[in-house]
Amino acid sequence: MPGNSFGKLFKITTFGESHGPAVGVVVDGVPAGLPLDSSDIEYELSFRRPGYRMVSPRMEEDRVEILSGVFNGRTTGMPITIIVRNTDIDSSYYEEIRFSPRPGHADLPYITRYGFANWDYRGGGRASGRETVARVAAGAIAKKLLMALDVWIAGCIVSIGDVEIVDEIVFEEALSSRCSPVKPCLKKYEKIFIDMIENIIKVGDSYGAIVQVFVKNPPAGLGEPVFDKIKADLAKAVMSIPGVVGFEVGLGFKYAKTKGSSVLDEIVVKDSGIGWRYNYSGGILGGITTGEPIVFRCAFKPTSSIRMPQKTIDLRTLEEKTISIRGRHDPCIGIRGVAVVEAMTALVIVDHAMRSGLIPLVKIPDSIADTISNRWKRYRELCMHMGESQ
Ligand SMILES: Cc1cc2nc3c(=O)[nH]c(=O)nc-3n(C[C@H](O)[C@H](O)[C@H](O)COP(=O)(O)O)c2cc1C
Repeated sequence: MPGNSFGKLFKITTFGESHGPAVGVVVDGVPAGLPLDSSDIEYELSFRRPGYRMVSPRMEEDRVEILSGVFNGRTTGMPITIIVRNTDIDSSYYEEIRFSPRPGHADLPYITRYGFANWDYRGGGRASGRETVARVAAGAIAKKLLMALDVWIAGCIVSIGDVEIVDEIVFEEALSSRCSPVKPCLKKYEKIFIDMIENIIKVGDSYGAIVQVFVKNPPAGLGEPVFDKIKADLAKAVMSIPGVVGFEVGLGFKYAKTKGSSVLDEIVVKDSGIGWRYNYSGGILGGITTGEPIVFRCAFKPTSSIRMPQKTIDLRTLEEKTISIRGRHDPCIGIRGVAVVEAMTALVIVDHAMRSGLIPLVKIPDSIADTISNRWKRYRELCMHMGESQ
């Protein structure tokens, strides 16, 4: 199986290459009756769009075309096909380095697996971050469907390079980060991160980053007990994003450095019901959601495409050579990566909510469709309002 699909009931298949005519996604399993139009998807895509100072200068408008599965502003229950045309393509530089696989990229592994003659070397081809447009488009549908359960998802940057935000962060702060050019979890770090990015661009290098994600109001009891644990599915979803190299849930790697007595998720009475005193486990125990917010982090490596000199070989002569990467690149992948991580999170949560019977598989009743529309409107207003207050 080629592995271009993800999900069990809410199933996506992405297609397209960086310098091909379009990228897109087929989303199968969306129940009929979900209010949906291209602006919902373009809204989410706007948080991953390139073309401004802190990210890749590639100017893509990311206009969405819905080819199937939506009629009169509602989903029909049939596969939804979405395409986004690639409009700002410049492949000239890739002709120059075609025989010089780039360090840190998928070039050499793709050549080994698929053969040199079959490899689309333009802009990273299928391995490019451009593929993640399709994930964010599908994630927009998942996020909207999750409004039926009042589940909200927000991510933000907790570190760039060795500058880390160590403060306690709440969901609203993560949500408000989306309108910042560098998406810091706390506004006071914005200027620091902007200065770092501007300086790293000047020297032709790049930074790694850590993204933290919050899922607010997850229903308790989501997740299958053994291989399809929520944490396992989230890890796979997030680790499949190009450039992601690490994943931890809750305290994650910090657990390994502590004693059991100091990190127990004690059970208490909360609001006259059963609750958890802390949430060290990030809202997941035994692979099943506890009902506490889901919190996880993932690490993005520093962008490999940098101007600084780097060694590779010429595939024709097998001689070593030094190259410097030109073209248009993100100085810190994590910044645009936040929207992609949010989208992959939404895909996992909605799939499990459907598997648990919390979202109808065939048709959304009108009353729930209205609730979704109202909550989605509130979500967009809140984001806009928070953006203004940034
Ligand atoms: C939104 C996004 C944008 C990206 N932009 C770049 C980029 O400009 N330059 C680059 O070298 N890598 C970029 N990447 C990462 C590469 O696609 C990735 O490192 C490469 O395909 C190798 O895969 P791996 O790092 O997962 O092993 C981006 C990833 C994402 C998610």
